[in-house]
Amino acid sequence: MKRILLSCTLACIILAGCTEKEPLYLNPELPAEKRVQDLMKRMTLEEKVAQMSQYVGVEHMKAAEKEMTPEEMKESHAQGFYPGLHSSELIEMTRQGLIGSFLHVVTAKEANLLQSYAMESRLRIPVLIGIDAVHGTGLYHGATIYPTSIGQAATFEPELVERASRETALEMRATGTHWAFTPNVEVARDARWGRVGETFGEDPYLVGQMGAATVRGLQTADFTGFDKVIACAKHFVGGSQPINGINGAPCDISDRTLHEVFLPPFKDCVDAGVFTFMMAHNELNGIPCHVSRYLMTDILRDRWQFDGFVVSDWMDIERVHDKHATAATLDEAYLQSVAHGMDMHMHGPDFADCIIRMVREGKLPEKRVNDAAAKILLAKFKLGLFENPYIDEEKVDEVVFNAAHQQTALEMARKSIILLKNENSLLPIDRNRYKKIFVTGPNADNETLLGDWSFRQPDENTITVIEGLQQVSPESDFEFFPFDTNLRTMEMSRVKQAKERAARADLAIVVVGENSMRYMWKEKTCGENVDRYELSLVGLQQELVEEIYNTGVPTIVVLVNGRPLSTEWIADHIPALVEAWEPGSFGGQAIAEILFGEVNPEGKLPITIPRSAGQIQTYYNYKQTSKWFNYGTGKSTPLFEFGYGLNYSRFEFSPITLSANSMTPQGSITATVEVRNTGRVTGSEVVQMYIRDCYSSVVRPVKELKGFSKITLRPGESRKVSFEITARELSFYDIDMKYGVEKGDFLVMIGNSSRDIDLQREQFVVK
Ligand code: BGC
Repeated sequence: MKRILLSCTLACIILAGCTEKEPLYLNPELPAEKRVQDLMKRMTLEEKVAQMSQYVGVEHMKAAEKEMTPEEMKESHAQGFYPGLHSSELIEMTRQGLIGSFLHVVTAKEANLLQSYAMESRLRIPVLIGIDAVHGTGLYHGATIYPTSIGQAATFEPELVERASRETALEMRATGTHWAFTPNVEVARDARWGRVGETFGEDPYLVGQMGAATVRGLQTADFTGFDKVIACAKHFVGGSQPINGINGAPCDISDRTLHEVFLPPFKDCVDAGVFTFMMAHNELNGIPCHVSRYLMTDILRDRWQFDGFVVSDWMDIERVHDKHATAATLDEAYLQSVAHGMDMHMHGPDFADCIIRMVREGKLPEKRVNDAAAKILLAKFKLGLFENPYIDEEKVDEVVFNAAHQQTALEMARKSIILLKNENSLLPIDRNRYKKIFVTGPNADNETLLGDWSFRQPDENTITVIEGLQQVSPESDFEFFPFDTNLRTMEMSRVKQAKERAARADLAIVVVGENSMRYMWKEKTCGENVDRYELSLVGLQQELVEEIYNTGVPTIVVLVNGRPLSTEWIADHIPALVEAWEPGSFGGQAIAEILFGEVNPEGKLPITIPRSAGQIQTYYNYKQTSKWFNYGTGKSTPLFEFGYGLNYSRFEFSPITLSANSMTPQGSITATVEVRNTGRVTGSEVVQMYIRDCYSSVVRPVKELKGFSKITLRPGESRKVSFEITARELSFYDIDMKYGVEKGDFLVMIGNSSRDIDLQREQFVVK
């Protein structure tokens, strides 16, 4: 009897299942595109526009509600709330399906909570959560923090960047976020700009390689799956050459420079399949990027066939009205932006009402809304959010900051650090000779190692410089003299005390630089929205270095900073100088290992270091007349050149051999050098190939990086390294802005930096 009852119940359940028709879009067996079509048919205009609307997370909003006035909020780029809208209303809106996406959601718990509200909505559409996971998902407490992008670029290892990005994707999904607002592939041409550390430096080719690697790592092909995320190429475009070095200031450049320098890395990201683009704060040649049809539609979609969606940056459509003033009303700004190609509005409540109204009034074609919503939904389907929008909070710790990720972060830190000077082989430190080591400087023991886009991390996750030194050389007798993290309030009395103490040591290590700590917004000297008009050390750091040097104790300076610093005096006087950038969770360990010779440094400068801000713009791929005359005072050369970086080995390069002396534009030539490690330790070298078109219809740079390859050689070992030269390496925009190769003589240069003295050269002709 019992058995019969059970079978009846089962049959009823199965029957009920068959008769209740699940909407097609909820069927995971169907292709994502089909599911989008089905869902779109069921959606109202309001629901579609909701997909285009992004808000900050509820917790973030609550914090801002407590801390800020409406005026402060308007100017802020980090905090968010919406005057007139309370955080509790945001929850209700999510329940009603009026929010498509969130940002600044920094706990797994909140991510789940927001999804649970979204699941109460009519169509049960999950929310897409974006986060600034620029070098690890650093806004999450406990994440693995990799070196910032400028340090990543210094590795010249795209494969490593890809691996770190893959791990970042895993940590993001484990903590409930799905969309990384990275890579920043702006070509950095002004070190005064605070965001340089967030870029891959000054060279379009290197930036493109690193950007594409980031996209591949985050998205893994077409990002279908529960452990992938979508990437975002940003900021499109020109913000990295702002007037006055100020974030968001106008960029006024020729179409030629735009196409030759600034666009190629973005195109590389499109080729790598990047699914989203973020527009830049700035105007480009008079047109705010957020309303630029040329950028969003003509170039991105029509020319490059970009197939994803475009998001606005923080309050930037609003600025079209209230800062750029090319729209008399906010409505006009929203209309222009969406009509010209914007798909998602980052921030706040006014946008949706306006867009709905514009469609109803016939001012905006509904097709634009449909196209935008469809792409956003496609991402949600592919990411598997309809199948499971939640994450298992119990499993977060298995992924976040796990042993494998820690290992990658450490490896990347080791490879990102650049040895800029090493007079009389002061480095690596001879432990027997230098027993008592004095360590000081504001960056010797703080989280500035983590760089911008990182919130405070657990102390036990970060190895500071002094901690690294003690760990790597327990036998040394370290005396540590700390400074406060606030560089602006350093006191001379403490500098003097440091000098007195240093005088008693055998060796001094001074760790100076900048402060990009996002959670100490008022103390930052670098990072987002902290631009500068000079590039010297802030506060009394220079005095500190000079005082220690004046003791006569051999002194090593370590720079922990996000942007190039014009430390000319230090480069002239201090025997050993290390550029560590912001090397992440294990930065202190990596620095110590390099100082003590347990790791051979191999980083190379991805950006030129100027002697002073007055040298800006200064970059290696300049045009010859930029250096026609020398400056009347001071030296005209940069402090350190692009591609430069020392190590503890010695590498010798043979002359270049070419497979032929001439080629056709359709053909190719192979250029080969033999590299030998003539030093006493195993080391890695970045073999760099530069090209110059000797005579051309328009003025071309003195050299341009067109290939690089990292090799590791044991002492005495040698290896041949070859580069293929094809039209790809030789093409440029000619006098009619046609892209191609011009016939004539070319120079190929191969070596271990962009400096002429480090390069072998050979000539060939394109016939
Ligand atoms: C930055 C973007 C960032 C966004 C969200 C803006 O201020 O310019 O790069 O993705 O904030 O945090």
